[in-house]
Amino acid sequence: MADVFMNTYHRLPVNFARGEGAWLFDTGGKKYLDFSSGIAVNCLGHAYPPLVKAIAEQAARLNHVCNYYQSDVSAAFAEKLMAACAPAGMKRVFLANSGAEANEGAIKIARKYSLLRHGANRHRIVTLRGSFHGRTVTTLSATGQDLFHKDFGPFTEGFSYIPAGDMDALDKALDGDTVAGFLVEAVQGESGVRPLEREYIERAAGLCAERDILLLFDEIQCGMGRTGSFLACEAYGLKPDVVTLAKGLAGGIPVGAVLAGDKAADVLQVGDHGSTFGGNPIAAAAGLVVLDTVNRKPFLDEIVRKGEKLRSIILGWKHPKVKEVRGRGLMAAADIEDEAWPLLERALAGAATPGLLMLSAGKNTLRFLPPYIISDAELEQGLEILRGLLG
Ligand SMILES: Cc1ncc(COP(=O)(O)O)c(C=O)c1O
Repeated sequence: MADVFMNTYHRLPVNFARGEGAWLFDTGGKKYLDFSSGIAVNCLGHAYPPLVKAIAEQAARLNHVCNYYQSDVSAAFAEKLMAACAPAGMKRVFLANSGAEANEGAIKIARKYSLLRHGANRHRIVTLRGSFHGRTVTTLSATGQDLFHKDFGPFTEGFSYIPAGDMDALDKALDGDTVAGFLVEAVQGESGVRPLEREYIERAAGLCAERDILLLFDEIQCGMGRTGSFLACEAYGLKPDVVTLAKGLAGGIPVGAVLAGDKAADVLQVGDHGSTFGGNPIAAAAGLVVLDTVNRKPFLDEIVRKGEKLRSIILGWKHPKVKEVRGRGLMAAADIEDEAWPLLERALAGAATPGLLMLSAGKNTLRFLPPYIISDAELEQGLEILRGLLG
């Protein structure tokens, strides 16, 4: 690998040249089944024909226009996105480029809302232990994992962390005098695919409403249909104040979104926020294809069915090394006896069989985020490879 890159990733020795559907091909022509979707990004798989066509046509027409002007394709994407998120009460959107950038926007909305309504010094954002919200200095501050809180201080002030599921800690932490927002993932992704307990998040939503604290849902990994509803919060029947999206929203083209419901939709005004590339026409054209494809009940039902199939196959093995299987839709994890990372490496090696791309989430957890378009036969084939690797 070129040593001009900063050494920020543990890159595996596989060089991908192209992809098609749920498959990737390396420069030597070897095939790999993709159970990772580039960490929940390639939700329609690789080289999905309508996505390729939309990106190519838009690139030939207009690839960027500054946000001082209007663009029909960006407006069409924003409108369709709002329609998809209407069941969660979303009213307006700000388009960005990434998850961290979307969360920065959400934090700014919570702080300004609180300042306008309650005055200064009520700016704290409460998040959960084990959460992951991004790599910028402020979203690292929001991330409730000590591992990330080293070397880069001083961090943005005004964040505190509580353990998920602890009702007393929740009641104490969501203090109406100092807290502007409660930021949560509906399903924690990086810490091992852990859905929030219904009772817990309902209680949190109740406290937030009572104390006028904004409820911010980070759906950057679990949104966009991944759990079987367009937004994961729909499964709880909840209407958060703010939702953030990114990753799969444009099927592989960078995009992020901050969506806001009634309370927060008008908080940001001209000059408060911006992003050079946010809502770029190419990202918007790609996002329209994702929305048109994914946000249909039969398609979402298939995500649920395939997710259940994946989990039930693993459970059906009754393999002594598989300790627990969790998940919602096509966002799944298996805790295993062995370390996950060496197994991920072995899943790529060997010339005879196809490789398998998986993810880890902590030392002993395998994470599966296959593309939504994966077939039953491909799911079965990938799981057979995994079973062979478990020994
Ligand atoms: C839940 C969640 N929030 C935020 C982020 C940060 O997104 P990005 O890497 O696009 O900045 C991630 C990325 O893994 C994530 O999973």
